[in-house]
This record gives sequence, structure tokens and C-alpha cells, in this order.
Amino acid sequence: MKIAIFGVGYVGLTSAACLLNDGHVVIGIDLNERKVDMMNMGESPIFEPGLDELLKAGVDDGRFSARSAIGEEMADVDVAIVCVGTPSGADGAHDMRYIAEVSHQVATAASDRAADRNPLTVVYRSTMRPGSMEKLIAPIFQRYHGDALERIELVYNPEFLRESTAIADYYAPPKIVIGTRNGKPSLMMEELYAKIEAPRFTVGYREAEITKFVDNSFHALKVAFANEIGRICIREGVSARTVHQIFVADTKLNISPYYLRPGGAFGGSCLPKDVRALTFLSNETGAETFVIDSILRSNEAHKRFIYEMAIKDVKPGARVLLNGLAFKSNSDDLRESPFVDLARRLLSGGYDLRIWDPQVEPASLLGHNLGYSFSHLPELKALLLRDIEDLEDEEPSVVIDARGDAHLLPFASLTIVPINVLA
Ligand SMILES: NC(=O)c1ccc[n+]([C@@H]2O[C@H](COP(=O)([O-])OP(=O)(O)OC[C@H]3O[C@@H](n4cnc5c(N)ncnc54)[C@H](O)[C@@H]3O)[C@@H](O)[C@H]2O)c1
Repeated sequence: MKIAIFGVGYVGLTSAACLLNDGHVVIGIDLNERKVDMMNMGESPIFEPGLDELLKAGVDDGRFSARSAIGEEMADVDVAIVCVGTPSGADGAHDMRYIAEVSHQVATAASDRAADRNPLTVVYRSTMRPGSMEKLIAPIFQRYHGDALERIELVYNPEFLRESTAIADYYAPPKIVIGTRNGKPSLMMEELYAKIEAPRFTVGYREAEITKFVDNSFHALKVAFANEIGRICIREGVSARTVHQIFVADTKLNISPYYLRPGGAFGGSCLPKDVRALTFLSNETGAETFVIDSILRSNEAHKRFIYEMAIKDVKPGARVLLNGLAFKSNSDDLRESPFVDLARRLLSGGYDLRIWDPQVEPASLLGHNLGYSFSHLPELKALLLRDIEDLEDEEPSVVIDARGDAHLLPFASLTIVPINVLA
């Protein structure tokens, strides 16, 4: 294939070198003349292990050339890859000016393309916010190509390389994510990545665009969390190294997909209590743990969000059945259950609430469980159905499904709002 790469920095040059290594012909386009001169001499303008050799081999056998602008060569390019920078703007948002400029350049250069050539695939690899492909880039191409836009395939393909291991990462990425206009596979991208084995996701633009934000924020969160735990440990005379070893050895609950699915708020007798106690400990030791300190506030915001999602189509006064009250199914533990909080909000919002949870029997609640339900939901006894059949004459307009089994309830017409609104 003949591939043009716009923006030959860390990402662009790594892609160029690996595509050369795979046997493709590559043109590198960069505004920086000095970089262009160096690359044409087979010298890498950046240090990245292995890059020099691959670039030099491409220059020596005539498959690589660099320039500061592209013209008629675009006529027979199969794929254009955009890797320009998206640095932070003054307000924190990505500065998208390079993306806009380069999109105009690519769209103009593609105008010379013969009508009978295969469609040009333009792949964006720069990190940019969801909506950029649809709202910024596609309209630029539309302006130049109007009705002929089907001759240009726009793809978003985030890059996951890490500097210093960039070439190895190119050939063994953690995943390949391809964002297309309709979420359907791109033949050209399939061909480009044919030899690379990695989990593949072909999705819409927005899901592909947000991937890097999510990944990078999570990686940053992990570092910040690890360091906060380290600070607490050191101040408490605990070996941070040993704690780290114990933590990462748990690949069942800690380093695993558990507790990572967007859905309900956390609750129960352990998580809120122990996060609260760690926050206290941290403040006492002066560890300044801003991430840990914000966990409970974040959870409260999520409870509010769940309530708002649950009642968004239900008018106050409506009969609402909350299916499930304990903090999880097959438990009668009400302590810090997010559903007790939800019940409280529904009552305050003026809803005619009933609760169905076969595991919860008010007369059997004891100790803290009883105390918690008494202080947070004193109306519990009156709200809780003893038998689901008790509701037969006054069917609810909506069931808020905390247990996930509302479809089994014996009502004819049922509007079920899953609590797991994000899943
Ligand atoms: N560096 C990384 O490890 C990494 C990893 C994954 C994703 N990314 C993302 O990839 C993008 C590129 O990152 P980078 O580190 O390679 O940036 P970089 O600054 O090293 O390279 C960008 C290059 O684009 C050139 N450029 C700007 N406008 C141009 C134009 N109109 N035409 C041609 N060239 C132009 C610049 O001269 C520069 O050489 C960013 O969005 C970044 O967030 C970077």
C-alpha cells in the first residue's frame, strides 16, 4: 500500500517505521522542515529504540520520503494517517487547531484523486474528544468533497503505544479500536492490521474517540491511587512495597474487571465504612490523599444521578415499585444500601412508593441493620410488601429494578427501569 502520514512525531514516525517494516511505501508529511531533512537522510528526529534502523532501511530502498506538504502524490495514496499533536489548550481542552489545519490539507490534496481510484481511507490517530470526527472533521471533508464524500472513508483509530517501547507496542498493542461512521468494519483497516494479533473492536466514532481518554485517565488514577496509598503507608510505618505486592497479587478482585463496570453506586456494610475510615486515617497522618478523599463524594453524586435517571419519565405521585432494597441480591443487609437512599429520594420526590424485596423482613432486622433502616427509612414497614400479590389491585406505573429480576414479576403491563442504567 502507499500510505501518507501527516504529522511525523512520536506516533507518526513509529507508524511510518513499522509500516515500512511491513513492506508498505510511506510518505511522511510534517510542517517542521528540520524534521523533514533529517528523515530524508534516514535519521530519526526523535529517540525511540529501533526507529533509526527501520527508517534508514526505508530511505535506502526508496520506500520512504518526507516532505513539508503534499501535492499530486496524494492521487495514488491508499491511506492517509493523521498523527498531528492535540496539546492542552489554556482551559484544559485539547487544542484542535492542528487537526483542523491538517484536515483542510488532506481534503484539498484528495481533490486531485481520480474518480475511478479506490476510495481514500483517512485515519485519525491523534487523541481527540468524542464528537470530533462527526462535528469537526467530517464537515471539513464535506466542504471539499460534498456528494463525492463516499469516495473518502473517515476512520478513527486511537494509538496505544508507550514511548520507549513504541515499536514493540505497535506490533503487540493491548487492543485495536477502529471507529467508523456506521460502526461497521473498514476493509482497508482490516488489511492494514491483518498480521497484528490483539482484541479488536469496531465501533462508532465516539466510542473509539473516548477510548484514549478513559485509558489514560485510568492509568493516571492508578498512579495517583498507588501513590496515595504509599504516602499513607509510609506515614503509618507500613511497608508500601509489601502492601503493593499483596495488592497486585489479587487478580481476582483487585487487578481484574471486577468493580469496573459502570452501573450502580457502591454500598453495603464494608466499602463506605472502610473508605470513610481510610479518609480519616489519611487526614490524621497529613497524607493529603485527594483521590481517596473524593471517593465517597463521587458515590453520592452517582446516587443522585441514578435517582434522576430512574424518575426521568415518571411524574411525581405515580405508583412506583422498587424491586430490591438490600445492598445486593440474596442479602438482607440494608446498611448503606444505595437502594435505601433511592427509596428515601423517591419518597421525598412525592412518589407513591412500594418496595418488594423477598429477603428483607422488617420484623427480622436486628442490630445495626435495624438501626440503619430505622434512621434512614422509618417508613420501611409500611412500604415493604409482604407478598408481591398484595399489589395486584394497584399495579405500579413503573418498577425500578435494583435486583435485576423485575421481568419475573406477575404484572401485565410493566415499565421496568433497570437500576444498572449505564450497562
Ligand atoms: N506520544 C505518545 O506516546 C502518544 C501515544 C498515543 C497517542 N498520542 C497522541 O497522538 C498525537 C500525536 O502525538 P505525538 O506525541 O506524536 O505528537 P508530536 O508533537 O511528537 O508530533 C506531532 C507532529 O505533527 C506535526 N504537525 C502539526 N501540524 C501539522 C500539519 N498541518 N501537517 C503536517 N504535520 C503537522 C508537528 O510538526 C509534529 O512534528 C497526539 O494527539 C497525542 O495525544 C501520543
